[in-house]
Amino acid sequence: MLTKRQLLQYVGSAAGAAGVYRTMAALGMLGVSSLTGCSSPSAVSQSVGDGKRVVILGAGIAGLVAAYELDRMGYDCTVLEATARAGGRSLTVRSGDVIEEFGGRQRVNFDDKAYLYANMGPARIPYHHRAILDYCKAFEVDLEVFTNDNRAAFFQVRGSLGDQAVVARQLHTDQRGYIAELLAKAVNRNALDQELTAEDKERLLSMLKDFGDLQDDYMYVDSGRAGYQGQHVSKGLVGDAMPVEPLGLRQLLGFDASDLWWALRFSHGVNQNPTLLQPVGGMDMIVEAFKARVGHLIRYESVVEDIANQSAGGVRIGYSHRGTTMEALHADFAICTIPTTVLRDIDNNFSEATRAAIESRKYDAAVKIAFQARRRFWEEDHFIYGGISWTNYNDIQQIWYPANGYHRPKGVIMGAYIFGEDEFDRDFALDFAKMSHSQRLEHALASGERVHPGYRDELEVNTGVSRAWSEVPFQKGSWPSAPVPIAALEVPDGAVYFAGDHTSALSGWQEGSAQSALAVVEAINKRVMA
Ligand code: PHE
Repeated sequence: MLTKRQLLQYVGSAAGAAGVYRTMAALGMLGVSSLTGCSSPSAVSQSVGDGKRVVILGAGIAGLVAAYELDRMGYDCTVLEATARAGGRSLTVRSGDVIEEFGGRQRVNFDDKAYLYANMGPARIPYHHRAILDYCKAFEVDLEVFTNDNRAAFFQVRGSLGDQAVVARQLHTDQRGYIAELLAKAVNRNALDQELTAEDKERLLSMLKDFGDLQDDYMYVDSGRAGYQGQHVSKGLVGDAMPVEPLGLRQLLGFDASDLWWALRFSHGVNQNPTLLQPVGGMDMIVEAFKARVGHLIRYESVVEDIANQSAGGVRIGYSHRGTTMEALHADFAICTIPTTVLRDIDNNFSEATRAAIESRKYDAAVKIAFQARRRFWEEDHFIYGGISWTNYNDIQQIWYPANGYHRPKGVIMGAYIFGEDEFDRDFALDFAKMSHSQRLEHALASGERVHPGYRDELEVNTGVSRAWSEVPFQKGSWPSAPVPIAALEVPDGAVYFAGDHTSALSGWQEGSAQSALAVVEAINKRVMA
C-alpha cells in the first residue's frame, strides 16, 4: 500500500501542483480547502512539513492563511508582524480603538455597543469567494447578508437635475423603460430586419415590454417599479395611487454621466452582485478566528529590515523588535506578504526580475470615513436598509448604510468610500489622503449634506473616523492599481515566496490574499516533497 507521502509524490508527478493540492485536500491534509470545505483537525497529517522552518512576513489575511495551513502540516512557523495587531488592511474599528496614520493618531469615539463598528478595510465578501468563505465555515464565523445594491438609496450627479439626489429605483426603471421603448421602435420600424426574423421580432417585443414595463403600444409612460406618488413607496391603502413621474429621456441622457452609469451597474460586476456577505460583528471576526488558531505564532512589532537568500539555501530575515533590538531569523523558506509599496524599501538580495516586479507594482489610495449617527435617519426617513448612495459631488463618491443593527437607536454610517483613480478625472482619494483628519471630516460632512439635507446635525461629528490607506504605515496603499498578477511574484526568489492580494488576479480582495497563500503553501509542499 502507498503511504500518503508516496501517493502525493505520485500524484505530483502525474498531475502537477494542483493535483497535489486536490489530493491533499481529499486526504484531509489541508486544514480547509475550497474543494472539501472543512476537515477535522485530527485528520491532518503532521508529517508533511517535517519541522521545516518557515518565516511568514506579515499577519494579514495571506500571512494568517499560510501560517494556519503550514502549522497544521508540521511546519515550524513564525509570523513577523510590523504592527501591534494582526489583520493588515482588515480593520474594524470600535469604541476606544486608536488607529494610526503617518499624520497622527485617531481615537474612535463610537458608543460602546457591539453593533456600532466600522469596517475601514474590507467590508463585503462575494458569494463565490470560496477560500475565505470556507474559512468562515470551518471556523464558525457567523455571516449575515451585506447589501450592496439598494433601490431606495440615492444617486446624485453634479450639474444634473439641479444636483438633486434621485432615488435608485427611479433611475433603474427609467433607464430600462427608455432603452426598451427605443429598441421596440427600431424593431417596429423594421430597422432590425437583417438581424431578426418575424418570429424573433415578436419574441423580442414581448421581452422588451416586460423589460421596460412598456404600454401595449410599446411606449414607456411610467412604471410602478419606480414607486408611487404620495407618502408610500408602494400603493399602500391608496388603490388609485399613481406611479411617480419618470424623468424625461433627455433629462436622463443629460446626466453628466459616465460615473453615474458605472455606479448604476456596479452590482452587475461578478464580485459585486448578490449575494454578498459580512461577518456578524465586524470583518475582523475572520482575523480573530485565525488568531485563535495561530495567534501564538505571531511576533508583533517586528519590522523586517533585511531579506537575504543564503548561498547554502534557506533565508535570513533581519528585523527590529519594538524599534530597538535587531534580531535575525533563519528559515528554510520565507513567505513575504509585505505590500510592494513597503517591500521596495527593505534591503534584499533578490534578482533583478524580482526587484523590477516589486518596483512596478503600484497601489491605489482608497479612503473611508465613518460617523456615528444620532438616529438611523436613512431607515426612518428613506427606508434605506444597507446599501450605497452614490454621488460625484465633492468627491465622497459613496455613502454606505450599515447592513447591521437595523432599527437600533444609533448607527455607524460610512460617510465616504473613495477609490478609482481610473474612473474619475481626478484622484479624489489622494486629495483626501493629503488633508488633515479634521479637513477630511469637514469635506465629508459638506458633501453628505447634498445627498441628505440636515446630515451634519444627524451625525455625532466628534465620532468621525477617517482612513486613508496610502497614509498608513506598513501599508502605503489600498490595493494594487492594475488587477493583474505579475509573473515574477508568482514564483519564488530563492527561498522567498510571495503572497498577498498583490500577487493574485483578485487584488483588493481578501480572497486574492487567501488564494495566493494557498498557492504558496502548495508550492512549498511540492518542493519539500520533491
Ligand atoms: N474589494 C474592494 C471593494 O469591494 C475594493 C475593490 C473595489 C476592488 C472595486 C476591485 C474593484 O470595494
